[in-house]
Amino acid sequence: MTALISRPAGALGGSAAVPGDKSMSHRALILGACAVGETRISGLLDAEDVLATAEAMRKLGAEVEDDGGVWRVRGCGGGGLAEPETVLDMGNAGTGARLVMGVVASHPFTTFFCGDASLSRRPMGRVIEPLTRMGAQVHARSGGRLPLAVVGAAVPSAITYPLPVASAQVKSAILLAALNAPGRTTVIEPQPTRDHTERMLSHFRVAIHVEDAEGGSRHVSIAGEPEIAAADVRIPADVSSAAFPLVAASIVAGSKVLLPGVGVNPLRTGLIETLGEMGARITVENAGTVGGEPVADLTVEAGSLTAVEVPEDRVPSMIDEFPVLAAAAACAEGTTRMTGLGELRVKESDRLSAVARGLEACGVAVEEGDDWLAVRGAGGPPPGGGTIATGLDHRIAMAFLVLGAACREPVAVDAAGPIATSFPGFVSVMDGLGARIEAGEPL
Ligand code: S3P
Repeated sequence: MTALISRPAGALGGSAAVPGDKSMSHRALILGACAVGETRISGLLDAEDVLATAEAMRKLGAEVEDDGGVWRVRGCGGGGLAEPETVLDMGNAGTGARLVMGVVASHPFTTFFCGDASLSRRPMGRVIEPLTRMGAQVHARSGGRLPLAVVGAAVPSAITYPLPVASAQVKSAILLAALNAPGRTTVIEPQPTRDHTERMLSHFRVAIHVEDAEGGSRHVSIAGEPEIAAADVRIPADVSSAAFPLVAASIVAGSKVLLPGVGVNPLRTGLIETLGEMGARITVENAGTVGGEPVADLTVEAGSLTAVEVPEDRVPSMIDEFPVLAAAAACAEGTTRMTGLGELRVKESDRLSAVARGLEACGVAVEEGDDWLAVRGAGGPPPGGGTIATGLDHRIAMAFLVLGAACREPVAVDAAGPIATSFPGFVSVMDGLGARIEAGEPL
């Protein structure tokens, strides 16, 4: 795979078109495939992870096509999917794999799943357990890992399920299985997580009941076998992808960057809040709603950043942003402490370890615990000069290329390939703003 090198940059400026939200893109394809009629999706993320879900829904019987940038999905109707003739290869996509496992768990046929080396290391037990309670059988490799087969339940059962970990993927897998299970299914989240499935189900005219309970938990419930009406969906720019130019412009002196039409669902905006507390100057303008999701234009100007402690209850709203927050922390004055990060160990890579090793390679002092990270910032440009092992993880690659723009020496990443899973135009978007990212040898 190609290595990339990011050289120290001058002030970044201009406007960046960030691609569509990955979480919403998976969900739009899946709900479109389960709906009656034709769903048209604009702004769908055209990247490997989402294309894997599109292909999976095709293999399950839906018609899915890219009609000049607008995606058309002709659905099979609730419970109408068909047994795929071949294995569903979900590539690098944890969300795609877990959500589609949920859908097929309540269909009476067998579906085989596989994925790349990173996905095949990730724990699927967290979805296998509730889906088994709903009547599916799952035959997985040791440790509940891919490849695996889901034998869907002929008579699925509705369940009430308290999630052991706050995970939108697990919540969504259960809700999607519940669509074809008679009776009411309730998922109890210990803390609210991204609610795109809930919002999109409402958009497809499925009644969903959400109730906040004591201690910060949330009950989400759905009555099975609803009518799912095809709907047109507009997908906003992905705040988790916007995070990269957002942090870059915050840490490269003199920068000012506009990011239009970004999804700002409050369960996704923990990074914006945290950067604001650190002293980044971010303004949120032209706020509106698209397809039930809040959207706004973000402008960010560089500022001198100060370390913060990230409150643990904010973690779910920025779960994917810790690698790039660590890049901001490396430039801040003081020690930034992040706790409650155990889930980062089971993402596309062990992100706690990848971030810690990467920062060390760039001459940044860092301490790593079981579920925490403390980054001692340089109070300005960190040394840089290291090569980062990305472990097939797109966000590790992009976070360190962002850091490279703000360091005194270049930063290299060993493999750029995984960036295409979520943000295929990343290098041209960043270079368009004035970054200096190019193909190069490890340092
Ligand atoms: C996602 C949920 C999160 C997040 C992932 C996308 C989703 O995963 O990290 O990138 O679309 O539901 P978890 O559910 O494992 O926290």
